[in-house]
Amino acid sequence: MRLNGDGREEPVTLRLRQDGARLYGSIRISVGEVPIGEGEVEGNRFSFSTEIPFLPTAQRTLYRGSVNGERVEFEIVRDGGRTLRRGWAAWSSNDPEPYVRNLPVSTPPKEALPPNGLVLTPPMGWNSWNRFGAGIDDATVRAIAQALVSSGLRDAGYVYVNVDDGWQGQRGPDGSIRPNAKFPDMKALGEYLHGQGLKFGIYSSPGPKTCAGFEGSAGHEEQDARTFAEWGVDYLKYDWCTAGLVWPIDQMGEAYRKMAVALRGTGRPMVLSICQYGLFQPWLWAAQAGGHLWRTTGDIGNSWSSLRDIGFSQAKLAEYAGPGHWNDPDMLEVGNGSLSAEEERTHFTLWVMLAAPLLLGHDVRQTSAVTLAILKNEEAIAVNQDPLGKQGYRVVQKGSEEIWMKPLSGGRWAMAMFNLGERPIQATAIWKDLKLPVLVRVRDLWKHEDWGKVQGGFSHRIEPHGCALFLLTL
Ligand code: GLA
Repeated sequence: MRLNGDGREEPVTLRLRQDGARLYGSIRISVGEVPIGEGEVEGNRFSFSTEIPFLPTAQRTLYRGSVNGERVEFEIVRDGGRTLRRGWAAWSSNDPEPYVRNLPVSTPPKEALPPNGLVLTPPMGWNSWNRFGAGIDDATVRAIAQALVSSGLRDAGYVYVNVDDGWQGQRGPDGSIRPNAKFPDMKALGEYLHGQGLKFGIYSSPGPKTCAGFEGSAGHEEQDARTFAEWGVDYLKYDWCTAGLVWPIDQMGEAYRKMAVALRGTGRPMVLSICQYGLFQPWLWAAQAGGHLWRTTGDIGNSWSSLRDIGFSQAKLAEYAGPGHWNDPDMLEVGNGSLSAEEERTHFTLWVMLAAPLLLGHDVRQTSAVTLAILKNEEAIAVNQDPLGKQGYRVVQKGSEEIWMKPLSGGRWAMAMFNLGERPIQATAIWKDLKLPVLVRVRDLWKHEDWGKVQGGFSHRIEPHGCALFLLTL
């Protein structure tokens, strides 16, 4: 537990990894996930310091404690050595699925909202945050929209153009939210996007401020929903950020439901993307709160280790996804320059298998031919967009080899083989172990090759950090 800005207690999740005497990882509280700095381990004792940037109380805080079996005891030290709080957390060292265990669940909203027929397949599009952060502006959004059209990405299905944090200005005298100087006319921007055959997404928070410190929707939910509808908005990402200051922590469901009701009240269909970093098991309550998708993790970073840790830890969440309600392991980093072609293909294939939203996070104007071919692979996209809406799950985990299966409509399956390691491997699928019949028709969805009927199973070479994706027809 830690103390919230106003003195309330809230749970904390420590995601720590040890590398010799070094400790790295992140700490998650209601307002978000922040990396730890200066971590050290000695025996069973550890210490690290961190700063929670979006709290009014933001200051460097030292955590120190000890690991005793499954339990971590720690104290939080601030203000020149004064112990603020003692607490404990469940230990999940090097556990690839730390957040599906031992986490409290936020109370579901008192009255569940019924599904309203939006995003029956995972949303596809682009979001400004990964590449542009809060520096995004109207001209860049329009240029990206044009690039989506001219590159053929729009026609491949990427239609949502989502402006993340950084568009907001001040409220007017009537309390209505206004864009800042970088966005001269939001309604015109919406019209422009619609004219390009695209959809318009926007961002806000149930808190008074967003994570980047812009105006949030607290106390203005209905007014903002009406404003968004007037601007022609089709999609709202609603990010917890500072909402812990105005909502009790076990009322997350109500906070999101409030905006969901406000959006529905406008009469304009708007997708609600719930973003609270996977705290309090949103897969158990976010759909009832009116969410169409919900983040399951902290923010993705532009690195192999980040996408690997996030993507491969999603296996146990498969049962919670379905048409109109999706797990969201965060936006794509494909095309942002730090992943190899193999890694980009693996990132994309895994998100395809997870029935994850496919939200591009790069500068679409500068997409290399290799990256474009990955993002436009129609057969891979069809696996993600399959109308059955089932999320894939892991069926084999052997050393650095993983095999994932995703049930598809028509009794078909997608099967992905991954190599998380640093050397090539031979991955092996055995039909009997996968509960498939002796003869299975196989198609390679990256090479676009039919193999015909394969008896018993097969082995396949997979490059380091690479993958293969197959369509299996029985
Ligand atoms: C949080 C979210 C990100 C992004 C930023 C914007 O960190 O998780 O996806 O929206 O806020 O400030």
